[in-house]
Amino acid sequence: MRRAKISIIGAGNTGAACAVWAASKELGDIVLIDIADGVAKGKALDLYESAPIEGFDCKITGGSDYTLIEGSDIVVITAGIPRKPGMSRDDLIVTNMGIVSSVAEKVAAHAPNSIIIVLSNPLDAMVYTAWKASGFPASRVLGQAGCLDVARFRAFLSLELGCSIEDIQALLLGGHGDDMVPLPRFTSVHGIPIDQLLSKEVIDKCVQRAKVGGGEIVQLMGTSAYYAPASGVIQMSEAIIKDKKRILPCAAYCENEYGVAPGAKGAGYFVGVPCVLGKGGMEKIVEVKLNEAEAPLLKESVQHVKDLVKVVKDLAAKPNEQGQPSFPKLV
Ligand code: APR
Repeated sequence: MRRAKISIIGAGNTGAACAVWAASKELGDIVLIDIADGVAKGKALDLYESAPIEGFDCKITGGSDYTLIEGSDIVVITAGIPRKPGMSRDDLIVTNMGIVSSVAEKVAAHAPNSIIIVLSNPLDAMVYTAWKASGFPASRVLGQAGCLDVARFRAFLSLELGCSIEDIQALLLGGHGDDMVPLPRFTSVHGIPIDQLLSKEVIDKCVQRAKVGGGEIVQLMGTSAYYAPASGVIQMSEAIIKDKKRILPCAAYCENEYGVAPGAKGAGYFVGVPCVLGKGGMEKIVEVKLNEAEAPLLKESVQHVKDLVKVVKDLAAKPNEQGQPSFPKLV
């Protein structure tokens, strides 16, 4: 059987963590790409040298040459700058838009049949950027946000409950982090509704901590989180590579779904929703019936995604020295 191949663009903190999680699960051969050629080569070699001890059997290579990614099943985009204390994810937009669009174009040129998973922030706008710049069908472009947000929420609930993390199931919708829409109604511990086990105050506290979970890490470390975000990427990658048809919360392209952009043919948005992930990438969006309290929260979150994408479009339309749009594909 042919081995799967995962390429990771950006060999910094999140990219390297993706490579480690992918290798530990032996998901396939791994390529690390970075503008810093030596960093990508060095981290790939370093990780490969742990294989005899860890016992994983994957080829791991790295560098700045995009021919390395040829034949990839999945390409993860982590290239970009991370947050510093006091910065919001949105503050990264100008720099990361240029980086993600140029990376996505190269991915389309060298791995035209791959499925792209974006991790660079601000996530919801960077998935849009990668989609437009790659020209890929929307089903083959996804953003990792929901897996991380749900994982954080589950982790905090587990700390409160003192029970195994394995038994906690949760669902969140909407934009990444501060913008997410928690759905405690769909949160349970081995099937027991969470509100039978914890008070509203404690659940709200966990929701709030999950919302600002990224900021909590930035405050502590002075840079963005990487183990858990990368873990979310590899959870999605595994579902795709093994064609598991798992339902995972991802930033996925929506038009009519959840009333995001009704009738907007080809002009929808990437919003965090539960998706069926399999070998085709995003194979189906699962629509959950929201109640009167939840629906307006999602609407508000979607509006923030739209506002961010507008910033991308406006920046892309800005004329360059030749009087042409700076990023014509993104307009
Ligand atoms: N092509 C390839 N690699 C690039 C490019 C580019 N055009 N531009 C930057 N990089 C690389 C950098 O050289 C660096 O090694 O991207 C890497 C980013 O790594 P870090 O600075 O460690 O940042 P990281 O913590 O990995 O975060 C990257 O992911 O979670 C998000 O908010 C985070 O947007 C940020 C992104």
